[in-house]
Amino acid sequence: SQRTLVLLKPDTVRRGLIGEIVGRIERKADWRITALEMRVLDRALLEQHYGEHVGRPFYEPLVEFMASGPVVALIVEGERVIEGVRALAGPTDPIAAQPGSIRGDYGVIVRENLIHASDSEESAERELKIFFPGRA
Ligand code: GTP
Ligand code: MG
Repeated sequence: SQRTLVLLKPDTVRRGLIGEIVGRIERKADWRITALEMRVLDRALLEQHYGEHVGRPFYEPLVEFMASGPVVALIVEGERVIEGVRALAGPTDPIAAQPGSIRGDYGVIVRENLIHASDSEESAERELKIFFPGRA
């Protein structure tokens, strides 16, 4: 089975949607939440996490937003959980996301799209080391 890093972004926390989104993940058969922690992220950590986007026009506002309040970081484990959480989340742009997906149900603007989930096994291992260094 797989492990993935999930972040509930500051908009999720501010809007009181933690339970709603954690519930959708938790109800999937056989997936397990094996770590869950609320914290405020600093710029150094965000630069590591979003390294592939450094220099892009949306990068600075993205980091500003991601540091604007607490996030909830989770490790989720289970069968095909990397692809599976991405499917629950829907595409990056919430307006393009189907109703029924997390972003499709709750999001409007691209930056404030509620959730991050690792997009491959390599990303998951890289990101888990950044957010949960003791859990490698
Ligand atoms: P994550 O799960 O958060 O990594 O989202 P993603 O994999 O669907 O998107 P990606 O990794 O390409 O971008 C990371 C985050 O940057 C997105 O979730 C958005 O919050 C933001 N983002 C990406 N592309 C754009 C864009 O074109 N404009 C704006 N404003 N934000 C963007
Ligand atoms: Mg991504």
